[in-house]
Amino acid sequence: MQPLKYYIRTWGCQMNEHDSERYSGMFNQMGYLEVSKIKDADIVLFNTCCVRENAERKVLGNIGRLKHFRKKKPNLIIIVAGCMMQQPHVIEIINKDLSFVNLILGTYNIHRFPQLLEKALKENHSKRPLVEVWDQAKNVVEGIPSIRKFKFKAFVNIMYGCNNFCSYCIVPYTRGRERSRSKEAILEEISTLVKEGVIEVTLLGQNVNSYGKDLYDEYDFSDLLEEIDKLDGIKRIRFMTSHPKDATEKLIDTIAASKNICENFHLPVQSRSNRILEKMNRHYSREQYLEFAEKLYEKIPNITLSTDIIIGFPDESDSDFHETLSLAKKVAFDNAYVFLYSKRSGTKAAESTCQIPENVKHERFDKILSELNSIAYSKNLGMIGNIETVLVDGISDKHPGSIHGRTRGNKIVTFKGDSSLIGTIVPVRIIDARRATLIGELC
Ligand code: 5AD
Ligand code: SF4
Repeated sequence: MQPLKYYIRTWGCQMNEHDSERYSGMFNQMGYLEVSKIKDADIVLFNTCCVRENAERKVLGNIGRLKHFRKKKPNLIIIVAGCMMQQPHVIEIINKDLSFVNLILGTYNIHRFPQLLEKALKENHSKRPLVEVWDQAKNVVEGIPSIRKFKFKAFVNIMYGCNNFCSYCIVPYTRGRERSRSKEAILEEISTLVKEGVIEVTLLGQNVNSYGKDLYDEYDFSDLLEEIDKLDGIKRIRFMTSHPKDATEKLIDTIAASKNICENFHLPVQSRSNRILEKMNRHYSREQYLEFAEKLYEKIPNITLSTDIIIGFPDESDSDFHETLSLAKKVAFDNAYVFLYSKRSGTKAAESTCQIPENVKHERFDKILSELNSIAYSKNLGMIGNIETVLVDGISDKHPGSIHGRTRGNKIVTFKGDSSLIGTIVPVRIIDARRATLIGELC
């Protein structure tokens, strides 16, 4: 008998991408085959995100469209998982309007997937989805297999959850409180990955800077980085995300003194206005943020800095916005992800009666984006002539005969070359720049 084929679609952050790799791992262990087109699948799994309303709407629309597939393929199994499912109102919507879904599971019980799938397969054609969503995490579960997208680079979770309750953010409600993995489990996983050919790891957590606080008295994120840096065979270490309130000078010194930690820092600022930062419950001031950014530039001269910015947070005045706009110029970010504030029910900011009209949000968004783009472009222009080491990760679709990869500073570079270089680190001279990418030539 032919093995059943599965298709996974992922929305949201790297954490979700990595969860999908674990779903793939479990599917494969059960003998299923992955396909890249939904039309070829017997089982469809949507791994969902609810950080912004937009993502949530898209997911619901996509689930709705599966009804047509089901008509053509009556035995199609539909599974929905991830952050969105941790919200009771979403389960209600699915039960009411999208009840053809077979299985719903949340973020805390991924390891239960094989048993739940088996049960859902037996119960196929029942009228309602099988729902198993836990309202909190139990222990950190180790040993879930992963099928990783790349052979030479990998995501590694170092912790789950978030304790910060930024007033706009749904994540603490969908991913629960911080749970660090033990340093032994992390080091062992990375050592195994290196043996399998991985040379770059990206350490994942909602707030990696508070790694270990729930487990150890002394040992912190910098100590973990230092140990990973010493592992034989590892060439590049990245991490995300850092919360500015927990970013320490020790961390900067650890990066500066290390061999393999990449000179790239993602440090979400969200806003530059102290008034708004306070309302966001961020626990740092613009002065503290700027001081940290200055230290980074001072101690690691070739560091690249990226950030997240929210535009249109409740009560954001014109002058608050202009402060954020001026921050963009002052810090000269290499890359910035700008988001329109999205009201998430259950969060503190959603209760505010001072919501910003959509047209004002959009005007501010366009303005700051064009400023950030021109800064990023001029920083990229400044790199022309540099020789950068690039980890090649794929063939360029846009430029025939070209490949692309990333510098240590996480800039994308496209240059002439062939697929035999994928997975290797090569020296590349930068010869031209675009806003979001660099053009190079092999040295
Ligand atoms: N609206 C807009 N952006 C948000 N983010 C988190 N919650 C919201 C929201 N409700 C952004 C933050 C965070 C990034 C991952 O998503 O900037 O850093
Ligand atoms: Fe959300 Fe803030 Fe936690 Fe990041 S630190 S996941 S923005 S609550």
